Amino acid sequence: MNPNKRPDDMVRITNGELAAKFIDEQVAEVRKQVGDRGVLLALSGGVDSSVVAALLVRAIGKQLVCVHVNHGLMRKGESEQVVSVFRDQMKANLVYVDATDRFLDKLVGVADPEQKRKIIGGEFIRVFEEEARKLDGIAFLAQGTIYPDIVESKGVKAHHNVGGLPDDLKFELVEPLKLLFKDEVRQVGRALGLPSEMVDRQPFPGPGLGVRCTGAITRDRLAALRESDAILREEFAKAGLVGKVWQFFTVVPDYRSTGVRAGKRLFDWPVVIRAVNTVDAMSATVPDIDWNLLHRISGRILTEVPGVCRVLYDLSPKEPATIEWE
Ligand code: XMP
Repeated sequence: MNPNKRPDDMVRITNGELAAKFIDEQVAEVRKQVGDRGVLLALSGGVDSSVVAALLVRAIGKQLVCVHVNHGLMRKGESEQVVSVFRDQMKANLVYVDATDRFLDKLVGVADPEQKRKIIGGEFIRVFEEEARKLDGIAFLAQGTIYPDIVESKGVKAHHNVGGLPDDLKFELVEPLKLLFKDEVRQVGRALGLPSEMVDRQPFPGPGLGVRCTGAITRDRLAALRESDAILREEFAKAGLVGKVWQFFTVVPDYRSTGVRAGKRLFDWPVVIRAVNTVDAMSATVPDIDWNLLHRISGRILTEVPGVCRVLYDLSPKEPATIEWE
């Protein structure tokens, strides 16, 4: 039997009861596989890695070491949430690495999007490797591989494929979610008690805000991006759009335009609001967002975010535009 093939008769996990049954089976399976040895996991805070972490905490407690690398390109409050959920609430063994300066220093002056992705992905592996070398007794690497990652080898995650750890750190893999579809992973996450903001999270690219702060990233523009994104998320949540709009975020292009404040001319950044609906991210449409809501968001961004003098709503479907700006 091919362990990477979902059996035809495998029951789809559609409710909490089936999720609880899956969790019990996997807890037993993982305990059998790892015994009393250590397991390492890169915990980004995305749905898949968070669900694996929660499952493994249930199965093996402190034998799991989660490493959360904050590359400085996370959304507002995201790393804090990872620490609060996993270290404070679940009592997981969590290593938090604030590598912001390391990443941002490497990215200074780098404008090419693919080069930026390479630097972010490569640096991520190096930071993770350094942390792995500090640990004793690790025999396994856990991964949040899910079934679509196996089936569509050219899926979204392939974007982020920057190679792996060096040979002497090639651990045996623990991949408890590898036969599950995304909706099943979310069911399992809910049954494990993860908060909805984590389980129902919209997709977020591996290189994070790095591909939404277009061109060469600067700290002031990155701050404007993070703040404007937080305002957008807050207002969309208040308007009940979470779960109704597939993905939404802001972009800060590397381009200044003329503005005026208190009668004085200035050159500040525009903020672009991007919201899309899609089934598989291969094509996407732009939803009709209530005009009053757009005005409210725009007003808040223009008053609360320093360095911004314009707000735009991106009306471009995919194709011809991609969902991300770079
Ligand atoms: P595009 O921009 O290609 O995006 O229409 C399709 C989906 O993929 C996400 N995306 C990425 N995800 N690493 C990722 O992990 C990346 O480099 C990357 N680029 C785009 C994007 O957010 C959307 O959901």
